[in-house]
Amino acid sequence: MKVAVVYDKSNLDESRELMIQSVYEVLSKRYKVSLIAFEDDFLEKIVMFDAVFNLSTASKQVHVPAILELFRIPYTGSEPQAHATCIDKIKTKIILSYYGIPTPPFVGVDINDDIPEIEFYPAIVKPSCEGSAKGLNADSVVKDHGALIKKVQQIHSQFKQAALVEQFIDGMEFSVGIVADEVLPILEIDFSTLPEGMERFYSYRVKHEYGSYTRYVCPAKIESDLEERIKNYAKRAFKVLGLRNYARMDLRVKGDQIYFLEVNSLPMLTPNYSDIIKMAETAGYSYEELIMNILDDALKRYEG
Ligand SMILES: Nc1ncnc2c1ncn2[C@@H]1O[C@H](COP(=O)(O)OP(=O)(O)O)[C@@H](O)[C@H]1O
Ligand SMILES: [Mg+2]
Repeated sequence: MKVAVVYDKSNLDESRELMIQSVYEVLSKRYKVSLIAFEDDFLEKIVMFDAVFNLSTASKQVHVPAILELFRIPYTGSEPQAHATCIDKIKTKIILSYYGIPTPPFVGVDINDDIPEIEFYPAIVKPSCEGSAKGLNADSVVKDHGALIKKVQQIHSQFKQAALVEQFIDGMEFSVGIVADEVLPILEIDFSTLPEGMERFYSYRVKHEYGSYTRYVCPAKIESDLEERIKNYAKRAFKVLGLRNYARMDLRVKGDQIYFLEVNSLPMLTPNYSDIIKMAETAGYSYEELIMNILDDALKRYEG
């Protein structure tokens, strides 16, 4: 069987390159594998393959599976519709709320919209369709309308997209992953070990410069009742968003209230780095087993 590992050249950084190389190496133990970039000659090349491990990013994570659907080539990860929804945090939250999955109160403010006053300060202002903490700084948390207006305008001009204004949940942070119908052990991200004065959330600098200061606890030390509730919401979110194969969701908990923040429909799979890898290792899967499980589960759908 010939497998293509598909990636996106326009969005490569060190950890992405390590992910692509690592997935390539794991699959090479069992299959004939090629690295294929999503570029002009993609259509000609891709028809030669029997399966695709999709490691594309951002908008490409919609285009790659859409093309593979057309050619009926089995691929890992979700279908284009689910990626298209999850790339947009506002649309994701609308769907989660409709299905009774708790998410913080919010408003979406599109470019040229009036910036409404809100009733849920402090609030955090995020770009609606980015990831990896892009656009998140210490001043993303606002306490009054003046600061809110400034931040929303900044998101509009920097990212050319709607801003998501969401109640800031000053609580514990968790991430929950699902792979091949299995909810993995919940990961807690502890920000209390960051240097004094630093924001207690994944701002861009906390995620990318102070990573070694944040503490990861997996399995999270939480009551089994809370764990069950989080896992049940995660399964429900997975289903109502039409996800398949694997995904990861970020959430916060304050008191006994759970708040889902966002859904990553194509989370990173970088060894010794990505959240989902930490979860899988806690569940007893090596990196190699996790990658093989993902591909095996993806291929199962095409059997029969
Ligand atoms: N409503 C919120 N309350 C508290 N912290 C938040 C909230 N929204 C985001 N954050 C913080 O910002 C981080 C990044 O936000 P998230 O919505 O996960 O976007 P992304 O990971 O795509 O950049 C979260 O991991 C969390 O630490
Ligand atoms: Mg996130």
